[in-house]
Amino acid sequence: MCGIVSYAGFRQAAPILLDGLRKLESRGYDSAGIAVRNSREIVTIKAQGRLQRLYDKTDNGNAVEGFCGIGHTRWATHGEPSEINAHPHASDDGNVVGVHNGIIENYQELKDKLLRKGYHFYSTTDTEVAIKLVDYYWKKYGLGPVDAINRAMVRIRGSYALAIMFRDHPNEVWVARKDSPLIIGAGEGENFVASDVPAILNYTRKVYYIGNMEIGRLTADDITFYNLDGDVITHDPVMIDWDAEAAEKGGFEHYMLKEIHEQPTAVRETMRSYVDGDRIVLEGVDESMLRDLERIYIVGCGSAYHVGMAGKAVLEDLTDLPVETDLASEFRYRNPKLVKNSMVVIISQSGETADSLAALRLAKEKGATVLSIVNVVGSSIARESDCCIYTHAGPEISVATTKAYSTQLIVLYLLAMRIAQLKGLLPDESFSQMMAALSKLPDQIERLLEDKERIQWFASKYANAKDIFFIGRGMDYAISMEGSLKLKEISYIHSEAYAAGELKHGTISLFEDGTLVVGILTQQALFEKTVSNMVEVKSRGAYLMAVTCYGNYSIEDTANFCVYIPKTDEHFMTSLAVIPLQLLAYYISVAKGLNVDKPRNLAKSVTVE
Ligand code: AGP
Repeated sequence: MCGIVSYAGFRQAAPILLDGLRKLESRGYDSAGIAVRNSREIVTIKAQGRLQRLYDKTDNGNAVEGFCGIGHTRWATHGEPSEINAHPHASDDGNVVGVHNGIIENYQELKDKLLRKGYHFYSTTDTEVAIKLVDYYWKKYGLGPVDAINRAMVRIRGSYALAIMFRDHPNEVWVARKDSPLIIGAGEGENFVASDVPAILNYTRKVYYIGNMEIGRLTADDITFYNLDGDVITHDPVMIDWDAEAAEKGGFEHYMLKEIHEQPTAVRETMRSYVDGDRIVLEGVDESMLRDLERIYIVGCGSAYHVGMAGKAVLEDLTDLPVETDLASEFRYRNPKLVKNSMVVIISQSGETADSLAALRLAKEKGATVLSIVNVVGSSIARESDCCIYTHAGPEISVATTKAYSTQLIVLYLLAMRIAQLKGLLPDESFSQMMAALSKLPDQIERLLEDKERIQWFASKYANAKDIFFIGRGMDYAISMEGSLKLKEISYIHSEAYAAGELKHGTISLFEDGTLVVGILTQQALFEKTVSNMVEVKSRGAYLMAVTCYGNYSIEDTANFCVYIPKTDEHFMTSLAVIPLQLLAYYISVAKGLNVDKPRNLAKSVTVE
């Protein structure tokens, strides 16, 4: 998630901009920049890498004169991390300069339009397109800021928080917002813009929340809001009572809970990046290769491997292709026999996991096409694969992955649907129904999160558990793997995920009175089978929690505690069933008073064998 800071006031702007960006550093970024209006022009300074480089380039901001400016830390989504791609971006004559947070879905269409109108582009970002689109309307129709911005807003599809300066409007900052966070801070003789509260908490606690599809204008002494028609509208101020640490986590107690709650947005942003109207567009992926595939191998570690397990079921069902899943640490040493026309899918949030990177290199040595699904733009795995589909989860701070896991699932669903289409195996009507189901997932996840207090209550009863089992069949087994790992890694409670049908071959001897068993039952055809397995363990003293769909109320004859999830296309059930399991693990860890975000012995990215 990019960071935005802007200032208009009586103090030198640059030091304040840098300080605000510093407060947003933990969100992760790969480059940064500021633009400040001095008495003559708008001066822009950018730097790739750490924010300190921008401090160094500007003598901590003291070398940049001016009382009005914008600043940005970039988390790359379109275009590699580089100084040229860093924000702010500007029209060629410096008439319009701006920064952006979000994703512009139709940036290529808009870029083509502007190229036809004689515009040139120096970067590979969607942001430069947005800024030049505002400039285009400014010049073509001789519009003022409000009208130039709102015309651009009407043409742009996607999400954005924009902070813009116009050369001919010194000491003014203009903002516009759709679906990306943006707040306006009100001071005395100075006003602020930020993508998040921590950036301005040192200066003011009085903020305005600008609404979707609204525009704002800031000067040192004035804050004005406009609707899309250009009419002035008003907002009431809100006083922020968070302390700095709470603000850092968006008011949540831990990054993990913040990131669990970011999943609806992360899923929506990832879908937006690859769905154009009623088409799936996987930029950079050779569709003739997809069409000719004879086998797919999915390789990853930890939760990434669990995504592969769930994705296997979806891919095999939709594409009729055989799909193998492998732990990267096994794949790299077992001399895998890769048949021709194979594709190896490497899944990795960090894009730096040593075993996964080694598996990628081995797959390439063996002649397979390597497609990676990665969250960090420009990471090693992203750069070394033949093609990469980025997830748009934003920076994931907590060691236990949640939103990256959920967005990896989305990419696999879209990949499976696209391959099935290319192979003529997915009729238009089925495709449309699946797309409709996908579009509902963010709201369904949101609805599940509203149930968190109930999970919290149940979790507090199991903080002292010694063993917790997760069982399921088919895709539900893959889901149980992720539930078990989430629990283990942040609560330190021993846990096993088990194929429900396999319990009777030995493991069932472990069950004692009160052993908690979590049954996952999202696949209707396997529902009764799994219920039978739950009855088996219940008769041996187990205490049962069930995760199943609304409507399967018969489960209450068997399970002691039931969590219901909304019905969706069964291929996508993992995205919903995993939410209560994430919450269960989180609240048990909190009940034990553990360091949820930084569990013992673990690192966010395992870059060594
Ligand atoms: C997941 O919660 C864990 N933190 C861990 O299993 C992680 O998924 C694994 O290390 C893979 O990391 P990657 O996705 O960055 O490659």
